[in-house]
Amino acid sequence: MTVRSTAGAFRSPFYLKAARRMSQKGLLNFFYDLWREYGDLVRVEMGRNRFYLAVHPDHVQHLTVTHRAKYDKRASYDDVRRFLLGNGLVTSTGDAWRRQRRLLSPYFTPRSIEQFLPIFISEAQRTRKRWEQLATRGEPVEMINEMMQLTARIILRALFSLTDEREICDTAHDVDYMISFVAFVQMSPIRLPLWVPTSRNRTYLKARARTHAFVRKLIAQRRAMPVEDYPNDMLSKLLLARDEETGAPMSDDLVLDEAITMYFAGHETTARGLAFAWYALAGEPEVAAKLHDEIDRVIGDSDPTVEKLKEMPYTLQVLKETLRLYPPAPFYARDAVEDDVLTGEPIKAGTRIMLTPFCTHRHPDFWREPLRYDPERFSPEQEAARHPYAFHPFAAGQRICIGNNFSLLEMHVLLSMLAAQFAPRRQPGHQLELELFGTLGARTGVWMHIVPRQA
Ligand code: HEM
Repeated sequence: MTVRSTAGAFRSPFYLKAARRMSQKGLLNFFYDLWREYGDLVRVEMGRNRFYLAVHPDHVQHLTVTHRAKYDKRASYDDVRRFLLGNGLVTSTGDAWRRQRRLLSPYFTPRSIEQFLPIFISEAQRTRKRWEQLATRGEPVEMINEMMQLTARIILRALFSLTDEREICDTAHDVDYMISFVAFVQMSPIRLPLWVPTSRNRTYLKARARTHAFVRKLIAQRRAMPVEDYPNDMLSKLLLARDEETGAPMSDDLVLDEAITMYFAGHETTARGLAFAWYALAGEPEVAAKLHDEIDRVIGDSDPTVEKLKEMPYTLQVLKETLRLYPPAPFYARDAVEDDVLTGEPIKAGTRIMLTPFCTHRHPDFWREPLRYDPERFSPEQEAARHPYAFHPFAAGQRICIGNNFSLLEMHVLLSMLAAQFAPRRQPGHQLELELFGTLGARTGVWMHIVPRQA
């Protein structure tokens, strides 16, 4: 199939009518059906709400690489900016973004993030103990929630060196509430201002006030210490970073925004990726056997090292195939800042375009039998032969996820250490229904039993 030169169009003059259809089908299925019905570029008009859905890998390349100067994160990111992340790296734009990206990139190279390996390992060991108990109790667990607790602890240790259980729980709880608040605001057709004392608004405002006070206290404690005593964590790096042109440090407000950004971006997506990996493995005995074979051969029950991880390429293929079929960030947006033409379709400045790893990763022109789970797709030969933008779970171009190396290393360690001892099983009768709620989720959760490998 060649890329269509003009867009298919879905029009619904009455927003509420389309919104009803959307909520009946679920947002994920709604978008997926639009793509299947109208093609790789869809102009969606729902009342006054207009945007494009762009699915073809050529579109991904155009929007994020070849014509990237014409697209930025503007109005589409206003809610996240306002209610959660301020001017942190995910939501900042233009020169402010460029400066921050330049400042933070050195801390996210494959080499730099190796310093977090001991945290990944010790948290995997802690989860092994927890899973031993869960296995004897035989109760099912909701895997997204289970993985979220694990990755939240990891990112809070990596960010702030937190070890106090109470502080970890309270901080994770408050920021997770702020995240769910933004997802709710983005989905609701009617918006109430924050001063209206609904219980949701009040809980959000309290969670935000507590989080900001907590992070500001940590910043003040660090600033009061001699620099030689700073712990080796991301907060210290944010405080010590200096702009290479002006030599200026970040303001406390910006450090706060970046810290919340790293927490937000750095645990939820990774947790979802891992949860879906367990789910997929439980339904694919041959893949699981090959994975177990590799793990047993290379690390057995011992702790992985960076060198040992390199000897476990199949485990990484399993993770990539999971990110293909279950991309934790199934959609992301760009706003046109100038007029443009996208494969023949005129795009006016101000137009929102939704890019969709969820659909691109299921495109039959680039993935044979796209719904089949098959880690062999990520063998070096198959990867080299594929369109370079057919796989974009971390976005693409200059705004590609800065934490991609961090999360792949984290997932590689956690999956290999836990799969060395456990093979979670799906709860009988449980049906997975994927759903979009900010990130990729499941309507009734991902329920599984923790089972030791030998059982
Ligand atoms: C499986 C795990 C992850 C997935 C699927 C993922 C996905 C993404 C995607 C799709 C974007 C682009 C968002 C957009 O354009 O709106 C992004 C950006 C970002 N991610 Fe991740 N991410 C993951 C893990 C992480 C981790 C572990 C961190 C930090 C430790 C992180 C930090 C960020 C940041 C700071 C950005 C903004 C980068 C910029 O605009 O310069 N992410 N991520």
